[in-house]
Amino acid sequence: MPIIETAPGVSDAVSKYGIMDMPDLEYTPELARETAQAYERVSTVVPPIEWPAFAPYVKAINELKKERNAVILAHNYMTPEIFHCIADYVGDSLQLAKEAANTKAEIIVQCGVHFMAETAKLLSPDKTVLIPDMKAGCSLAESITGADVRALRETYPGVPVVTYANTSAEVKAECDICCTSSNAVKIVESLGVPRVIFLPDEFLAHYVAGQTDVEIISWKGRCEVHERFTAQDLRAARENDPGVKIIAHPECPPDVLAEADYTGSTTGMINYVKDKQPKKVVMVTECSMSDNVAAETPGVEFVRPCNLCPHMKRITLPKILDSLVYLKEEITIDPDVAARARASVERMVELGK
Ligand code: 13P
Ligand code: SF4
Repeated sequence: MPIIETAPGVSDAVSKYGIMDMPDLEYTPELARETAQAYERVSTVVPPIEWPAFAPYVKAINELKKERNAVILAHNYMTPEIFHCIADYVGDSLQLAKEAANTKAEIIVQCGVHFMAETAKLLSPDKTVLIPDMKAGCSLAESITGADVRALRETYPGVPVVTYANTSAEVKAECDICCTSSNAVKIVESLGVPRVIFLPDEFLAHYVAGQTDVEIISWKGRCEVHERFTAQDLRAARENDPGVKIIAHPECPPDVLAEADYTGSTTGMINYVKDKQPKKVVMVTECSMSDNVAAETPGVEFVRPCNLCPHMKRITLPKILDSLVYLKEEITIDPDVAARARASVERMVELGK
C-alpha cells in the first residue's frame, strides 16, 4: 500500500508516517477463503450473514497494522470481530497498560475508551497512540476533575489519594497512585496507612472497603453500565436456574455483588469461566464480554442480563481501519500533566512486578 506524503501543519503522526491509500473493501470468494480461519474463531457468536460486512475490514486491518508496525490493544468489552479477529493483545485495563508499556511497535491503536488510550500514552510517551473514536469516554472518568481532587486533599490533609485507572490524565496527575479493578485492594494496602481517599467509583470503593481494614473515603462516581444491574434481576436468574453461577464486576452496586459467586476484574471473570467451565453463567457486566468468552467456551451457556457500554461500542472495524490509514485520532497530553500522571501509573505497574 503506497504511503501518501502530506504537507506540514498536519498532526505529528501524519507528518511522521504519512497517510496510506484506503484498501479495497469488496467481499469476494477469494476474500472469504482468506478470512475463513478468522471467521472460525467467531462463528458461534457472529451469524454467517454478518461476516461479509466484517471480513474485508479484518483482512485490511491485519495487513495494514503490519505495514504500519502498529499493535492493536483491545479491551475485553470489544465486540468479537475486534477481540478475536484483529487484536494483538486483549485484556483488562491493567493488562493493556502493561502491554502498552512493553510494546516494541511504533504505533499503538487502543481499542477501548479514552482513559485507556491516555494510559497507553503515559506509559509509551514516545509512541504514536491512536484511538479510533476520540468520543469514546467513560461515566466514571467524567465524574471527577483535577480541581475536585485538590479540594479533597484540602479537606483531608495528608491522606493519600488512590485513583482508579478510569480517570483522565488530569485526575491521575493529582493522585499518589493508580489502581485498576484487578489490583485495587493490593494498591490500597501497599500504602501502609490507616486511611485513603479512593476515587472516583463509589461502588468499587465500597467493595475495596469490604476487603481491607484501611478506612476508605470515596467519591460519588458510578459506571453507567454496572450501576443498572439489580439484585432482583440476579435473584430471578437464580430462581429460574438454581445451578447458575453469577459472576460480577466490582463496579456493580453492593447488593448486586452480594448475589455473586465471584467478583473480579473483567479478566478475572473470564478466567473464572474458562477455569471452572460452569454449565450456566451470568456475567454481570458489558454484553460483548459474554460473546467473547462464549466463542471460546462452547460447553458453557451464557444467561443474560447484560448491559452495553455506549462508549466502548463507538469502536468499530471501519473506525479502526481509518485509524491505521489516516493515523487518527492521536492522543496528546500536556507535558506537565503527563509527567505527574505517569508517576502515578508507573507506581502501580512497579508494584505489580
Ligand atoms: P477492567 O479493568 O476490569 O477491565 O475494567 C475496566 C472497565 O471499564 C470496566 O467497566
Ligand atoms: Fe466506563 Fe462503565 Fe463503560 Fe467501563 S463500562 S468504560 S467503567 S462507562
